[in-house]
Amino acid sequence: MELIQRPRRLRGSETLRKLVRETRMDKSSLIYPVFVKEGTGIKEEIPSMEGQYRYSIDMLEQELEACKKAGVTSIMLFGIPDHKDEIGSGAYAENGIVQRALRMAKEKYPEFYYITDVCMCEYTSHGHCGVLCDHDVDNDATLELLAKTALSHVKAGADMVAPSDMMDGRIAAIREMLDANGYTNIPIMAYSVKYASAFYGPFREAAGSAPSFGDRKSYQMDFHNRREGMKEALLDIDEGADIVMVKPAMSYLDLVADISMAVDVPVAAYSVSGEYAMVKAAAKNGWIDENRIVAEMAVSAYRAGAQIYITYYAKELARMMDEGRIG
Ligand code: PBG
Repeated sequence: MELIQRPRRLRGSETLRKLVRETRMDKSSLIYPVFVKEGTGIKEEIPSMEGQYRYSIDMLEQELEACKKAGVTSIMLFGIPDHKDEIGSGAYAENGIVQRALRMAKEKYPEFYYITDVCMCEYTSHGHCGVLCDHDVDNDATLELLAKTALSHVKAGADMVAPSDMMDGRIAAIREMLDANGYTNIPIMAYSVKYASAFYGPFREAAGSAPSFGDRKSYQMDFHNRREGMKEALLDIDEGADIVMVKPAMSYLDLVADISMAVDVPVAAYSVSGEYAMVKAAAKNGWIDENRIVAEMAVSAYRAGAQIYITYYAKELARMMDEGRIG
């Protein structure tokens, strides 16, 4: 057989396959989400996310040590408060859970890069991502609270803020608030392309943030839409977003690909709780090879165009990168 092109020529050995790899990654591009809650001496496993925990501030050190050992350098903090109210006041309280966790973490572990999720849903009694007017979230009234929340995180030591609420205009509102207070150099990573997704189920159990009525479809995106994702990303960049995120990751790589081609800011992909839970459950049953699945999921996000990958598997991926299994 006379064949000019034989693609198999480049697949002949591991060394050669590594030589011609199109996608290369580094563990410095990983972000690990961590849940902190009120109380002391608490490290409780999240039932739907085996291997992930809720930590009280004093126990958080344990997790940060593990991240340090694994070489994961960026942490995304989620707070679980004791007290919730209609207006989510715990989100922007000076002594709120995230604010206190940050102060401790920055003092004891200044080598990490701390990103905070800016949203109201963990702090509102109704579980929605903003303040209500009738039975819907009031967009413009929520903006001020989000901006206050972002500012209080930054004052407590956040290196970057990541608004996940999906209100219109929140990037502009947060940028303005940070700038007015002298924080012109704090970047914003916008959850720009965030879908109303069943993949967040385990997170809502972890954070106790499921809405008490209705759903999030009036502010998070409809999963049938692709071009709308571009609209959201471009709007956020116009408003001052430094990094745009696509969330979830696995079922939304078309968006990662589109957006990474179209914009000139870094793109992040968030592999969410439901993705983690599915892999864990199947692996526990012996139905899949956990490491290999996790590797494929991560590489596919980078291959699609993400520069940053947010994942509950960050430590495991860092290890796989160290071992040269991926990257
Ligand atoms: C807060 C927020 C959510 C997630 C990140 N930030 C939940 C939601 O929007 O309901 C989901 C993360 C995950 O599922 O891992 N709004």
